Amino acid sequence: MNKHDYRDGDSIDGIGLGTWKSDPGEVERAVEVALEAGYRHIDCAAIYRNEAEIGHALARVFAGGSIRREDVHITSKLWNNAHLPADVEPALKRTLADLRLDYLDLYLMHWPVAFRSGLEGFPQQESDFLSPEQAPISATWEAMLAARDQGLVRHVGVSNFSIHKLQQLAASGAELPEMNQVELHPYLQQDALLQWCREHDILVTAYSPLGSSDRPDTMKADDEPALLDNALIAEIAEKHAATPAQILIAWALARDTIVIPKSTHAGRLRQNLASADIVLDDADMQRIATLDQHYRYIGGNVFRTPGGMYGNIFED
Ligand SMILES: NC(=O)c1ccc[n+]([C@@H]2O[C@H](COP(=O)([O-])OP(=O)(O)OC[C@H]3O[C@@H](n4cnc5c(N)ncnc54)[C@H](OP(=O)(O)O)[C@@H]3O)[C@@H](O)[C@H]2O)c1
Repeated sequence: MNKHDYRDGDSIDGIGLGTWKSDPGEVERAVEVALEAGYRHIDCAAIYRNEAEIGHALARVFAGGSIRREDVHITSKLWNNAHLPADVEPALKRTLADLRLDYLDLYLMHWPVAFRSGLEGFPQQESDFLSPEQAPISATWEAMLAARDQGLVRHVGVSNFSIHKLQQLAASGAELPEMNQVELHPYLQQDALLQWCREHDILVTAYSPLGSSDRPDTMKADDEPALLDNALIAEIAEKHAATPAQILIAWALARDTIVIPKSTHAGRLRQNLASADIVLDDADMQRIATLDQHYRYIGGNVFRTPGGMYGNIFED
């Protein structure tokens, strides 16, 4: 498995297991099967509302003795309703209790958007948000760094951050995140963001690498392109005697990003992990580069407020 190094030399596997939309009834089994199959990196988040079930699976596997806690890289994310500095540590401790862990390997600020403290569900009105002045990302970030300094997490990073947002953090004088987790696949290649992160020693994780087709219908456009059905990807898959999903994962690895495909099916979990053995050549990469259409499956519409409090979060 290819690995990526953090600044202190700790490492993270190039392929991790995504857990968004993994039903609480299925995720426990999926995590156990994934660990048995060789996954050593699990991507979680408080808002996925399945961390307690993942915690059961982790506790059972670690109790079995053949896989140790320190062998597995576990990520979670701070939800938008806990951005005020006083809310960060309690939210992190809830996640740790749910996952039955005493530390996380990586804690990410899920979105550069703050909701009213403790808000359940998604905002229904402008007053459900906190403005960037009320909850500056730099203050949330400082609280996350403090949690790391206390030993509750090994590494801290961000998610869904544009170059501009990263520059804002840099301007505050704070230490830069070690990771930016963003949507990345052949329809949304984000070369400039990737380059910026590389230049600033920030690792990048690609989410929704297969096109996230199990998202709720309310998050889908009627005419959205189906990434797994793309004809060029299918052709390259045939050439490598692989599946389209494997080509998408191999492409993410070839671009030096970490990638976290989600599945709850044993066969697909194994198939996705085996993508690490597929080597795409320059011609494959050049052809896939032509597929970019700046298409976001995760459009962030829920963060658009009538008053435009957060503007276009992916650019501003
Ligand atoms: N930071 C963020 O804001 C953010 C946002 C989105 C996602 N994420 C993270 O990224 C992870 C992955 O993204 P995602 O869940 O949006 O979508 P994804 O991984 O792009 O796609 C998941 C879909 O692909 C299917 N699938 C998996 N392996 C397959 C294969 N080999 N062949 C065919 N279909 C396959 C899954 O079905 P089955 O499960 O039925 O196999 C599921 O329907 C998430 O789970 C989450 O951990 C983070």
